[in-house]
Amino acid sequence: MNIQNQIQLKPFNTLSLDVTASHYIKVQSNEVLVEALNYAKQHALNVLILSGGSNMLLPEQIHALVIHMDIQGIEYLTEDEHSKTIRVGAGQIWHDFVLWTTSQHLYGLQNLALIPGLVGASPVQNIGAYGVEVGEFIESVQVYDRQLEKFSTIFAKDCDFSYRHSIFKDDPNRFVITHVIFKLLKHADLMLNYGDLKQAVGDEQTAENLQKQVIEIRQSKLPDPKEYPNVGSFFKNPIITEQLYDHLALTFSNLPHYPQAKGGVKIAAGWLIDQSGWKGKQLGMVGMFHKQALVLVNYDKATLVDVQATYHAVQHDVYQKFNILLEPEPVLFNESGLIRSHLE
Ligand code: EPU
Repeated sequence: MNIQNQIQLKPFNTLSLDVTASHYIKVQSNEVLVEALNYAKQHALNVLILSGGSNMLLPEQIHALVIHMDIQGIEYLTEDEHSKTIRVGAGQIWHDFVLWTTSQHLYGLQNLALIPGLVGASPVQNIGAYGVEVGEFIESVQVYDRQLEKFSTIFAKDCDFSYRHSIFKDDPNRFVITHVIFKLLKHADLMLNYGDLKQAVGDEQTAENLQKQVIEIRQSKLPDPKEYPNVGSFFKNPIITEQLYDHLALTFSNLPHYPQAKGGVKIAAGWLIDQSGWKGKQLGMVGMFHKQALVLVNYDKATLVDVQATYHAVQHDVYQKFNILLEPEPVLFNESGLIRSHLE
């Protein structure tokens, strides 16, 4: 086991924040994961699980053991007439895995192409885009349960998947995801209902073309983290009451809105931010991207304090105009490596 000290995490978080971790280990197997967790216990260190770093806000110094998940491997498990199940290591790069499924004629994940991050993080916030959420194609999630101190399997029905949510978000310190088991279709059933996706796909209604169009749409408006460090959508699309929506619609008749099956109305946060004057606007080194106002970008060498100054200002302006408090999507950590609330 190779625990390193004073490690710079800038290359491992897509917002490119300067972050030094007191203790760090890269984990490539279940065995080393258990050794690392035991080490943390013996040395009274908190544990911070690092995956692709594409949904995290980290302070400059972290006193904790950062466990960087790097378990690789893809293996076929079972198949029936309609589907195949595959077990994938948490450390596989998400986008590469999606491309691989398409090349193997396995269908379902094409709408989720080009999402940054690793496979192990995909169930945590139930990543979703263009009308598909990953939970629909997950059979189960293999975890190490830190409370019961054993490996176990959690079936999708017990993961409580919903919009940007799962049990892994509710109880972030309990489970370490080691593998995800996907159930993918042998025959494509294209999901083309989102926005103008159907138009983009046109007559060539194949999974390969759908994947290509999704990649093109994302590239046309979402910044590449290598060029413009970011964490994807910075805020969740808020779900507001029907009464508030009816009230807002009197003034803003073109407000993009999506009535929800379980009640309430989902509103496009990007539109709210755009209308509040923040599209392409910066406060110091941090601003909202000029092609998609929902994405916060670190334009220079910002620290967490700079990032917070900008997103608090965005929240303030949106609240003043629309009476809606936007909730950040990325997870915020404190100097002890623990998750803290955005509301503190
Ligand atoms: N809009 C604006 N101005 C903007 C951005 C958006 O007016 O600057 C309007 C658009 O015109 C559209 C509406 O807002 O009417 C929705 O925009 P879009 O279709 O781009 O999607 P989104 O709601 O901004 C969500 C996800 C994305 C996902 C896309 C496509 C959330 C928080 N974000 O964005 O997810 O790729 O839909 O499904 O749900 C991510 O989570 O990192 C992410 C990129």
